[in-house]
Amino acid sequence: MLQVQDLSVSYGQASALHRVSLEVNEGEIVAVIGPNGAGKTTLLKAITGLLKAKEGTILYKGNEILGTPAHKILGYGLSHVPQGRQVFGDQSVEDNLILGAFTIKKEKQKIQELIEREYERFPRLKERRSQHAGTLSGGEQQMLAVSRALMSDPDLVILDEPSMGLSPIFVKQIFDTLIELKKSGKTVMVVEQLAMAALAISDRAYVLQVGEVKLHGESRELLRDNSLVKTYLGSK
Ligand SMILES: Nc1ncnc2c1ncn2[C@@H]1O[C@H](COP(=O)(O)OP(=O)(O)O)[C@@H](O)[C@H]1O
Ligand SMILES: [Mg+2]
Repeated sequence: MLQVQDLSVSYGQASALHRVSLEVNEGEIVAVIGPNGAGKTTLLKAITGLLKAKEGTILYKGNEILGTPAHKILGYGLSHVPQGRQVFGDQSVEDNLILGAFTIKKEKQKIQELIEREYERFPRLKERRSQHAGTLSGGEQQMLAVSRALMSDPDLVILDEPSMGLSPIFVKQIFDTLIELKKSGKTVMVVEQLAMAALAISDRAYVLQVGEVKLHGESRELLRDNSLVKTYLGSK
């Protein structure tokens, strides 16, 4: 579904990604784990069209998307939950959801159905549907960010550190949601600093460190041989 080959990205003179290659197959949960500053967000921004890459290829469903603007990529069925959630704080929960559906904005009936689906997924969002998103707790905002990304009914959902700043209960809820998404036929790529938790729910994983893929394989295997992961990530 997604193939990244030899992707390099720099900020001015500073290299942030160096020849990163990875793939995500349909129906998988793929984790990209790595410490702060490893280049995880840079990778996701390059994939979702928010950042220009210097070199490399990014194929999505077989088509080159490198250099394609972000809103077009969203229309192809690839949706992004950004780091730090970035909900629209002065808009209601429901308006945030509607904004997530802008690629299908003429399909009112479908949007209503998708909103109901998200309210079933996260009943808290339904309870708070008229509230400004800025008044929600961090965990609730993360639910909203996930739901907003799902409002374009994507095939591939890419999440940037969904656990950041959340209490363990919310982390579990968000990770359970990723498993549910996979069961419902979606493909998931998740970037995380919480390596062990991300390995526990993913099929395969890539370890990113200072802009390079240092290790990859089946998550089960990486968990089993956790000395490898510890070498790169500490004991998180
Ligand atoms: N807008 C930017 N301008 C300059 N350097 C940046 C910018 N964003 C990130 N970097 C640098 O690129 C590297 C990778 O950052 P990032 O992709 O945010 O890592 P991660 O998400 O894994 O924490 C870091 O060294 C960071 O300081
Ligand atoms: Mg980041």
